[in-house]
Amino acid sequence: MNINNKNWETIWLEKNNKSIGVIDQTKLPYSFETLKLQSCSDAVKAIKKMVVRGAPLIGVTGAYAFALGVLEDSSDSAINNYLKTIQIARPTAINLKWSTDRVYKKIYNLPNKERYEVALQEAENIKVEDIKMCSLIGDYGLEIIEEISKRKNNQRVNILTHCNAGWLATIDWGTALSPIYKAKRAGIDLHVWVDETRPRNQGASLTAFELASECVPYTVIVDNTGGYLMQNGEVDLVIVGSDRTTRTGDVCNKIGTYLKALSAKDNQIPFYAALPFSTIDWEISDGISDIPIEIRSEKEVSEINGIDSNGKINAIRLVPENTKCFNPGFDVTPSRLVTGLITERGISEANEISLREMYEKN
Ligand code: MRU
Repeated sequence: MNINNKNWETIWLEKNNKSIGVIDQTKLPYSFETLKLQSCSDAVKAIKKMVVRGAPLIGVTGAYAFALGVLEDSSDSAINNYLKTIQIARPTAINLKWSTDRVYKKIYNLPNKERYEVALQEAENIKVEDIKMCSLIGDYGLEIIEEISKRKNNQRVNILTHCNAGWLATIDWGTALSPIYKAKRAGIDLHVWVDETRPRNQGASLTAFELASECVPYTVIVDNTGGYLMQNGEVDLVIVGSDRTTRTGDVCNKIGTYLKALSAKDNQIPFYAALPFSTIDWEISDGISDIPIEIRSEKEVSEINGIDSNGKINAIRLVPENTKCFNPGFDVTPSRLVTGLITERGISEANEISLREMYEKN
């Protein structure tokens, strides 16, 4: 995507082939900075601190982290340790496990000295595939937006999204935002309601930054506004991303997604999740009981980050001192509330039969 007239992806291999470059998302939207990750441990820290975040992007970062680890030590015991350390960096998104298992399978029975190159190549493959999948998700999602636009006689289509499932959460294009970018380029009149997405405000800081850069009209709202807008006919469509999707179509995404789905159902508004193959966990069928939900620091709730009038990024406390807070990062939207899943293979119903049919045909 385009930032200041330069085309960016969220992660890249540096010229020395021994380190990885990333955009530091903790600094956005205030400043656009990049960071070099020189080791597996640098990359794991970047995932934990959410320098990089979003299910597809942490999957790709995990694969590169694994390769950087293998460069340091390619012994059997070391690669087993890297695998474990990377996979537990963030527990909810399945992409981290999916991508590192994929690298592991490619290297575990190779001689040690061949492992690095193969691991690095597999990380590159996963990255390239992610870009293709996200672009296709955009093409299929565009059909839904086109249909609504036609039904409204080309009047503005209002889309609500939660968290950031744009190119910053992937490598390029994004998942939930990819159809929006394709629709903008197709000349459809649209506007995006951006949930701020407390506590880390990925909507207010990252989705708003992305949409502004692509000149897509948008308005940031506090997380509780969606229901009001839906009741008043101001939302035509909800599209969100997914960190893990069960084979039965339950969608686990940023905390608060479930409430948007309930409200959409009550107001007969279509609610879609956009996701690539790498986000589907075929092993589980009940999202509520089977998906581990990441519990993050209380400080993310008790404090808020922002930029002050002197241009300094600061955290300020919102609650009385020593207040206890609770901060689950994700929730599960049961498949009964999901109108459909926008994938790189087309639009699937949120159920096992439809998902299997989609992925079992070539
Ligand atoms: O905690 P985050 O910022 O990693 O959460 C991101 C989300 O919830 C996204 O919606 C999800 O990863 C899908 S991204 C294409």
